[in-house]
This record gives sequence, C-alpha cells and structure tokens, in this order.
Amino acid sequence: MPQIKFDQFEAETLDDADPLRLFRDKFHIPKTKDGNATIYLTGNSLGLQPKSVRGYIEQELLDWETLGVEGHVYAKNPWLPYHEFMTKPMAAVVGAKPVETVVMNSLTVNLHLMMVSFYRPTTSRYRIVIEKGAFPSDRYAVESQLRFHGYSSEPEAVATGYHAAIEKNPVATDPGSDRRDSLIELTPRTGEATLRTEDIIETIEREGDSIAVILLGGVNYYTGQAFDMKAITDAGHKAGAVVGFDLAHAAGNIELNLHDWNVDFAAWCTYKYLNGGPGSVGGAFVHERHAKAFDLPRFAGWWGHDKETRFLMGPEFRPIAGAEGWQISNPPILQMAALCASLEIFAEAGMPALAVKSRLLTGYLETLLAAIENPRIQVITPRELSGRGCQLSIRVQDADKSLFAAIADQGVTADWREPDVIRVAPAPLYNSFADVYKFVEILKKCLK
Ligand SMILES: Cc1ncc(COP(=O)(O)O)c(C=O)c1O
Repeated sequence: MPQIKFDQFEAETLDDADPLRLFRDKFHIPKTKDGNATIYLTGNSLGLQPKSVRGYIEQELLDWETLGVEGHVYAKNPWLPYHEFMTKPMAAVVGAKPVETVVMNSLTVNLHLMMVSFYRPTTSRYRIVIEKGAFPSDRYAVESQLRFHGYSSEPEAVATGYHAAIEKNPVATDPGSDRRDSLIELTPRTGEATLRTEDIIETIEREGDSIAVILLGGVNYYTGQAFDMKAITDAGHKAGAVVGFDLAHAAGNIELNLHDWNVDFAAWCTYKYLNGGPGSVGGAFVHERHAKAFDLPRFAGWWGHDKETRFLMGPEFRPIAGAEGWQISNPPILQMAALCASLEIFAEAGMPALAVKSRLLTGYLETLLAAIENPRIQVITPRELSGRGCQLSIRVQDADKSLFAAIADQGVTADWREPDVIRVAPAPLYNSFADVYKFVEILKKCLK
C-alpha cells in the first residue's frame, strides 16, 4: 500500500487506484435524510441491493404473469432447474465443486439438516464442539440437536422435564443418558477476546475420543475472527470427528476452499456479503466423499429426490447424489432471482480480487483507527490477515449505545453489539477508501 497521509485526498487516490472501483455503481447505496450516500459499513448484516436485482425479479414476475404453471419449463430461466443456475457461481464463492453445493432453505434450517445427517452420537462419541460466543441461533440449534438425541448441555434441561419427553422418544440414540458435558465451548484465554488455533487444536486432541461433531463459525460474528478451517478440519478428522462450519460471515467475505480443506459440511446465508436480499435463500456444502452416502439418515422431501424419476411420484425416496440430495422443498424463485443477480456480480469480480481489495480496505481502516491514538478504542479482531475478513470489531471502553447513535446520526450505518462493540465491515464490492476515511473522521469527532 502507498504511504498513507490520512486525508480525504489520499483516500480518493486509493479509490482511483482500485481496480474494482466501478463495482460500487452496480449497487443502490441508501441515502441519508439530506440526500447524501450513507457510509454503509454493515454488509456483514445485510448486503446492499444490486441494481440488476429488479430486472431479474421482473423477469420472473413477467413469466409467471404470462405463462402461469408453464413457467416451470418455459420461463426464460425455467423454474424447475432454477436453483441449478446458482450452483456454479456459488461453488466458486466457497471453493467447492458443483456437486458439493446447493442453494436451499435458510441457514439455521440447513444447519439442522446437516446435523440430522452428520451428528450420529454413540455411547462414547457424542459431544459437539462450538465456540463460546457463537451466534445464538447456532447454539440453540446445536443444543436442540443434543436434546433431540437424549443429551443435555444444561442442568436446567432436566428441570424442564425434557428428559421425561426423551424417554418416550424413540429417535433418541441414548435414551435416559444424562450427559451434561455434551457441549464443549471453546473459550478464549483470560484477558483475550479471540481463540488461539493452538488452543482449539489442543482441545480437539485432548477430548477427541468423545467428540462427534465440531461446528464453528468460519468467521465469528462478534469478533470477526476467521478460524483456520483447514487446521481445525485436519485435527477433527484425526480425532475421528465430523467437521462443519457456519459460513454466514465467511461466504463472500474471505476466500474459502471447502473441498480442498476436506470440510464435511457447511451452511451459510446469502443476505450478508452475498447481497441476496433480506431473508434470502441459504447455501449448503456437503463434501464429495459423502455425495453417495445414501445410508446417512436425512430429512427427505421431494426436491431431493432423483430428478429423472421425481415426477413419477413414487413412494420410495431416492436421493440425488451430492448436496442437492439434501433439498426438501421446491425453492422460492422470486427470492432466488435476487441471488442470481448478485452471484453474477461475484462471478465477474471473482473472490481472489475481492480478497485483495478487502485486505487493503480493512488494513486502511485499521491504520486510521490506530492513528486516532485514543486509549478507549481496542480492535478485538485479530491483526493477522489470515485471522480475519473485512470486519473489524471495535471495543470502545465505557461507551454505551449513545456513541453509536451519534455516529449513525452523522450518516454511518454500522452496528452495535452489547456491551461495547461497534462492528464495521467495509465490503470490497461497494465500499470505498473514502467511506472508511469518513467513518473514522466521524468516530473521532464523536469520541470527543
Ligand atoms: C453466524 C450466524 N448463524 C446463524 C444466523 C441465523 O441465520 P438464519 O436466520 O438465516 O437462520 C446468523 C444470522 O445473522 C448468523 O450470523
């Protein structure tokens, strides 16, 4: 990066040198009350709308209007195979083969579907590893899976009578088992905000015989820490466990190589970095080596059935080989149209180029924050480039939400996470160096 002088001119010079600068114009940037573009730094929560989305959705509305049910076959983009249009570009985003990738459902639903197949506890190997401070939905999903199989992570589960229900539940693998150690939460060392890879590996090695599944966020939503997914997967496999990741904050943010890393399964949403729109359809990855594991238990539905014979409507479920075999229902075309538009932009920009810009942009943010020299500010996201994506989580000592409100009042859209963290995520597709510069100037002013 060239010498930084910390002024707006320098930020604009960096923007002029940015090979991806024209991508910003492909997005609608929300406006402030006085008509200026907001400084939108919350693509880690909801990505912006590509301008092409409207045309994609209008095409499907038109085909529905004019063709009705015939649109399944005769629409410009036929609805029957519609999800397949996204398979290749989505596989490229997560470093997977098309057979390993499917766009379906939503994130937590997909996590459950993956755990139905891949969490197969035995008497000795029954524990699930997550990170402490995992996104609440992940924790709820994992705990409910543990309970479903007759395990408890919390003493309260006994008090709620959950075990009584399980004893009557023929699905429970180990009915009556009262293991409250079934959830392992990886916790940072005292005084540290993020996990050390060596500590994660050490836990996996130490507890390995009893671990059934390791399920971490590829990038933690709160700290912005990106985990060493390859090292964790290797250690998990060595211990005999299945390894999966929630990639909500990783897909479209960092370069992923799910296939090469040998990850067993993954699930993600597409409304954050992937700009698929509010509540957009999720993604799932199942490694090729499980593609024909038809004996794995799964929750089945007709959309996962062999495509050649699906419409013979036979009584026997025959899953499609690969990730598509985990589908259940026919998918929402209007929502998928938005995602198609966005994935086209990703295919054009390419993850490698986005990752290069992301490092520069977030590095610039980090440098400007350090230059404020305000002891109240601490970036809790790891400094190493391999340990993060575009998000920086800024802890502000003794701050309350009024600081965040003051920043928002100046035209910044970021987000606040209790008790004292502002999350800022310059997205390389549409954020500029000028955005970052202006944000830091506003933060500086508000801190005073
Ligand atoms: C890490 C993580 N997991 C799970 C979820 C829940 O996603 P969904 O509501 O799409 O199931 C989110 C949502 O933001 C998330 O960030």
